[in-house]
Amino acid sequence: MVAPATSSNDIEKIRVDLGKRGYDIFIGDGLVAQAGTYISDLQPDARCIIVTDDNVNALHGDTLRQSLSDAGLESHTISVAPGEPSKGFPTLETVVDGVLAAGMERGDVLLAFGGGVVGDLAGFAAGIVRRGMGFVQIPTSLLAQVDSSVGGKTGINSPRGKNLVGLFNQPSLVLADTSVLDTLSDREMRAGYAEVAKYGLIDQPDFFHWLEDNHEAVFAGGAARRHAIAQSCRSKAAVVKADELENGSRALLNLGHTFGHALEASVAYDSERLVHGEGVAIGMVMAHEFSNRLNHCGPEAAERVIAHLEKVGLPTRLDQIPGPKPTLDQLIDAIAQDKKVSRGALTFILTEGIGKSFVSKDVPVSQVRDYLQQKLNASA
Ligand code: GLY
Repeated sequence: MVAPATSSNDIEKIRVDLGKRGYDIFIGDGLVAQAGTYISDLQPDARCIIVTDDNVNALHGDTLRQSLSDAGLESHTISVAPGEPSKGFPTLETVVDGVLAAGMERGDVLLAFGGGVVGDLAGFAAGIVRRGMGFVQIPTSLLAQVDSSVGGKTGINSPRGKNLVGLFNQPSLVLADTSVLDTLSDREMRAGYAEVAKYGLIDQPDFFHWLEDNHEAVFAGGAARRHAIAQSCRSKAAVVKADELENGSRALLNLGHTFGHALEASVAYDSERLVHGEGVAIGMVMAHEFSNRLNHCGPEAAERVIAHLEKVGLPTRLDQIPGPKPTLDQLIDAIAQDKKVSRGALTFILTEGIGKSFVSKDVPVSQVRDYLQQKLNASA
């Protein structure tokens, strides 16, 4: 494992090696204020259209615009309402129309400046305007910096479900400014951290151990935070390189997500009750417990996951979700919607222990049902 950088002024660079579609991720403090330099190096005469949300625009929009202007780049801004409802057809139409109204051409650059919603929406818009224009991800949440801005998944929700309309569309560059994370709420920061811990649990036991020892420093900022984000991006870049279009091993990135998505669906995506990263945290505990139940690992793996996530203040149990408890049928229906059921079997990410996850395509629905029933009884 790469040792953490020692100076908090360092910028880490990671290559997502996808041949002609490859790109660099830069990670460090102050990158929003330097974005103009990076973008003019990439596309010297480009005009820029910033797609952001009202919160990020109010906090950091002027810094980005000033940086672009200092680098001699013209910019326009489209700001959408914050939150998941913006990830739909009406806002997509507004964004596409705004990009065209600003006269953007294929050689110009769309800057997706915000969290996961903005990144997914703006990346999709960039992929369809004029059959595709360049775009740069400037993620401003921890979750977006370690997951959604890297790997090219873009899209919107349909009234029939989340992320059902979209494209694989790789950005030309990712600028992850670790200092903007200081403006996140503790809850948002913790929720993003669940995805950081996920990389350790997938296949990097040393990284999980490092997080157990260093999580407080990661939350504090500086070199440890940058290292955690860089290690997560390195891990994601390797998975995406091996299976860009998710025909097989990229599914490992869904560790904890099958249970987590079912919990999110059971609260009707009410972020007051449960945000995505919290669902993933409980889901990762469940994936380890379920793997133990199927005799793939001992009980100590789940115990260690619970101990760590509790230390950082993430939920690990169903009864920590406020409001009415989900029913068994709600959870099973949501899992069946989320994953293809084939002859009564489900695809799940299971594990043989910390950092030893694998894709299983033959988990009997009956086993999932029995496990969930036991969980629901235990949380009564
Ligand atoms: N967030 C999962 C993936 O990018 O495949």
